[in-house]
Amino acid sequence: MRKIAVLGFGTVGSGTVESFYYHKDKILKENALDTDIKYILDLRDFPESPYNDKVIHDFSIIENDSEIAVAAELMGGINPAYDFTKRLLKKGISVVTSNKELVARHGAELLILAKEKNCNYFFEASTGGAIPIIRTLHDSLSANYIYKLQGILNGTTNFILTKMLDEQMPYKEALKLSQKLGYAERDPTADVSGADSCRKICILASIIFGKHILPEWVTTKGIEKITTEDAAFAESFGAKIKLIASAEKERDSDKIFITVEPHLVCNGNQLSHVSDVYNAVMVDASSAGRLMFYGSGAGKLPTASAVLSDITAALIANGTQNVLLWEDCTDEIIIDSKTVKRGYYLKQKDTDGQVIYGLSEEEITDKYDNIISLIPILE
Ligand code: HSE
Repeated sequence: MRKIAVLGFGTVGSGTVESFYYHKDKILKENALDTDIKYILDLRDFPESPYNDKVIHDFSIIENDSEIAVAAELMGGINPAYDFTKRLLKKGISVVTSNKELVARHGAELLILAKEKNCNYFFEASTGGAIPIIRTLHDSLSANYIYKLQGILNGTTNFILTKMLDEQMPYKEALKLSQKLGYAERDPTADVSGADSCRKICILASIIFGKHILPEWVTTKGIEKITTEDAAFAESFGAKIKLIASAEKERDSDKIFITVEPHLVCNGNQLSHVSDVYNAVMVDASSAGRLMFYGSGAGKLPTASAVLSDITAALIANGTQNVLLWEDCTDEIIIDSKTVKRGYYLKQKDTDGQVIYGLSEEEITDKYDNIISLIPILE
């Protein structure tokens, strides 16, 4: 029997195991599969868990077990996930992951390795939580050029912004609640600084443009400085503040404009209505036109749903399928965001030290003194 190993028994790992056993009969029957979870790798023991008999602490047991066909890397971070993933792929064991940091950093290399070893590297759970966006972009929209993709890709920050606006909940309290609900990263700095959204837009941009876009090339701003006053200003303007990740290819060139920034999203734009922990991805495709994908962007079971779809796909494939490869490139393809003209919400201190709010249609220039924040407007 070709079996599964789960690496990491945290929020996503435990959700994946629980959800696998809850849906096992359906998964096996509908896909004509016979499989089981053989190992759960973690540093800890889980005496209270009904799955504790599967818990092991030594990675080499998994890489040396010829029954293991698929490993779900749900540990997060670069180390030791990068080393483990390479070792598994080198053995021809398919790897599925929710690890956006690893995919955004080393995706091109790991995809090539999987192809060489006739196995798969799948990462549906890395971006958009439960939304089936990765396979949709690669498979379902393969007969399209996608020239623009824009969305809300971080559940934690969207949850925080919603709580601040709808319930006037202070930022710190909303962040704490998102941690309690299992939405935030272990270190929530990655969420609120925009780094998590940045990794995700890099993954989506790499898929649609076929070039490996690295996180350090992306203009990235977080929500740390957003206040309830900003949210109230947005409301009076007929807008909502949202952390928007965006990737757009310039017409008739290879240049890409890619950013992660809070935006004032006008109420006429569908993204302004995406609240709570939900994510949404808006895609402009050459034949299909505009598409919008919406769903839970974080949390134990929504993410487990995406992991299990990849495990099933890897078992069905039983060898390389749908080869997704990204070319290496340089940051020369990135458009400097300062050169792009946009409308802004401007918050600054006047000469008396009073904070004033307003709108600006100007490009960013040195003429603005004492700027507290400058947030682009998305119509
Ligand atoms: N911390 C992430 C989020 C988890 O809030 O979106 C899902 O990637």
